[in-house]
Amino acid sequence: MSSTSLGNGTAPNSPLPLDSRTFLVLHASVTGTAVDVAERIGRRARREGWAVTVKSVTEFNQAELLEHGLIVFVLPTTGNGHTPPQFVPLWTALLHPGLPPDFLEDLRYAVFGLGDSSYGKYNWVGKKLSRRLDSLGAHAVVERGEGDDQNEWGVESTFPGWLDQLMASIDPLFPPEAGFTSHALDTVPPPRIRLEKVGSTSAANGHTEQAPLLWTEDASWAKLVRNERVTAEDWYQDVREVELELEGVQDSERTRLYAAGDVLEIRPQNSKEDVDRFLASTRWTEIADEPFLISPTSSDQPLPPHLPTPFRTTIRYLLTNELDIASVPRLSFFEWLAYFSEGDMQEKLREFCSPAGQDDLIDYTLRPRRTINEVLYEFRSANIPPEYIFDLLPLIRPRGFSISSSPASHQGKVDLLVAIVKYKTILSVPRKGLTTSWLASLSPGSRVPVRFDKSGLLRLPPGDPPLIMVGPGTGVAPFRALMEERIRCGAKENLLFFGCRSVSKDFYFKAYWDALEEKGDLTLSVAPSRDQEDKVYVQDRIPEYGAQIWDYLNRGGYFYVCGSSTNMPKAVKKAMLGVFQREGGMADAQEAERYWDRMEREGRLVEETWG
Ligand SMILES: Cc1cc2nc3c(=O)[nH]c(=O)nc-3n(C[C@H](O)[C@H](O)[C@H](O)COP(=O)(O)OP(=O)(O)OC[C@H]3O[C@@H](n4cnc5c(N)ncnc54)[C@H](O)[C@@H]3O)c2cc1C
Ligand SMILES: Cc1cc2nc3c(=O)[nH]c(=O)nc-3n(C[C@H](O)[C@H](O)[C@H](O)COP(=O)(O)O)c2cc1C
Repeated sequence: MSSTSLGNGTAPNSPLPLDSRTFLVLHASVTGTAVDVAERIGRRARREGWAVTVKSVTEFNQAELLEHGLIVFVLPTTGNGHTPPQFVPLWTALLHPGLPPDFLEDLRYAVFGLGDSSYGKYNWVGKKLSRRLDSLGAHAVVERGEGDDQNEWGVESTFPGWLDQLMASIDPLFPPEAGFTSHALDTVPPPRIRLEKVGSTSAANGHTEQAPLLWTEDASWAKLVRNERVTAEDWYQDVREVELELEGVQDSERTRLYAAGDVLEIRPQNSKEDVDRFLASTRWTEIADEPFLISPTSSDQPLPPHLPTPFRTTIRYLLTNELDIASVPRLSFFEWLAYFSEGDMQEKLREFCSPAGQDDLIDYTLRPRRTINEVLYEFRSANIPPEYIFDLLPLIRPRGFSISSSPASHQGKVDLLVAIVKYKTILSVPRKGLTTSWLASLSPGSRVPVRFDKSGLLRLPPGDPPLIMVGPGTGVAPFRALMEERIRCGAKENLLFFGCRSVSKDFYFKAYWDALEEKGDLTLSVAPSRDQEDKVYVQDRIPEYGAQIWDYLNRGGYFYVCGSSTNMPKAVKKAMLGVFQREGGMADAQEAERYWDRMEREGRLVEETWG
């Protein structure tokens, strides 16, 4: 926890009382941590007699800013210091220069930021938000909290202590009624949903017949056209070119569906085997295909907005299409499981949830990447009432893939370059990515729920200036899309650094790049890391092209980096700072850093990386 020069988030000396014992928790999340943290704030506060609504910023109307007495924000910093895409509209509204300094004078707030201190812009979003809320007259009720992935226990290193502080600081703002005692920790909270049995069995052969629902208003259905492996058959990694065609789109609209640089989100399904295994562990198999009417037990905790209320469905439908049983469970999963376990099992689960048990929890879950389904199997003696299904399990979240086609060159079809996630840990069964293994299993003609994410910064540079692209592995995907557009516009100054392991095994879009190179439309530098004794990576190639890079940048060129966020972006930046010093005659690393920052501010430097 800290407050810095960027936004104080410092608690006021004399806090404003509230009109009721109620508050709102708002989250925006990319990989789910913020949702879990927000839900935990909600659960703790309800136990202490607060009426709390927890929701995503996508369900938040900006006018509500003036309606709530207290809002707790839980926000990660994503990309390279960027706000999560869902938070952009609210953030833009808050930045409106016309807002008076007392605009939020009736609002009390708290911010818990999520970040990773290995990134230069550590917890940038939480800091910026606190500072802006302060400048609009809002009152922090507690010092800003920060979760850091680099901490030994991740968010658990700071969040529990911060939550204690938050609860202590807001309690006096609207004290509970006389005689109120908070629910004991071991009293199971009420379930989020009510399940009412209706009619007769709606599904046969153990398959749900209910058509899946789209998860958001701007999602749509696409038909899988092509699903082809592009890496050599004897190669360890299965990478696919996937082609999709949106359903129900008129031909005249196709080329306007998306732009080069956009990302396609895909929301996967759980496999029948995984669902059956889950049902067996919970002993819900017999009721899995019975139709139920699902409704929320409290207006504070509505059903996810894309589900109708009440929702007629089956448990199998929910497990197949809506709820995540394949991810690594978070601490709150163990809290719920403990409520429904007994004896040694319960003791073990409670220990996992305690500060003393964090090392064990990480060894048991994060390190081996054990899934919810696997944990549940090991703790299958738990008696979980099906009403708790929405408490126990997070929603399946969509995953993003860079679009590798330009709409004009592909008649609005969408191409992706997808690495099928599969890796080993100490567990004997290989780990698999949910979305990519589901995609790999689909045949042409299958329907895929998708959404265009247009919030990224990777865009066709205006005015066709020179462009330098660094895209190792599947990071090269968006550059194929951008290049197709640039070639149509006649932009010839293009320099691409591509990295693979072996030219004969995993050189993506080779024929396309070769053709461009032959026509003089592209300078291509390939770093095949394993084709020679000494490993070579994209960052090693950059100095060889120092003069060309500097010439391009000097003439207003753009510099884009895309791909794995592990080591590559840092190594590329280091190589580029070296180029600035050598070719640009910069005196020292600080001057080179300033040049790098300037390019970023001008929008000429964009890094789109993923973990
Ligand atoms: C903006 C953006 C663009 C992207 N573009 C592309 C693209 O063009 N092509 C592409 O293939 N991917 C792309 N990705 C990455 C892709 O979204 C992720 O790989 C995604 O997690 C795959 O989904 P999944 O459900 O199959 O895997 P998940 O079930 O989400 O599992 C992935 C998780 O498994 C873990 N993991 C993976 N490998 C290992 C390992 N070796 N050791 C330990 N843990 C591991 C990591 O925690 C990782 O987050 C992009 C991501 C973003 C954010
Ligand atoms: C691709 C990527 C980029 C990130 N960029 C930053 C960053 O610039 N600054 C930071 O503090 N944290 C950064 N993080 C860390 C996230 O903020 C952190 O993992 C957070 O817990 C994610 O929350 P979520 O699961 O709710 O999305 C990044 C994480 C990833 C995967």
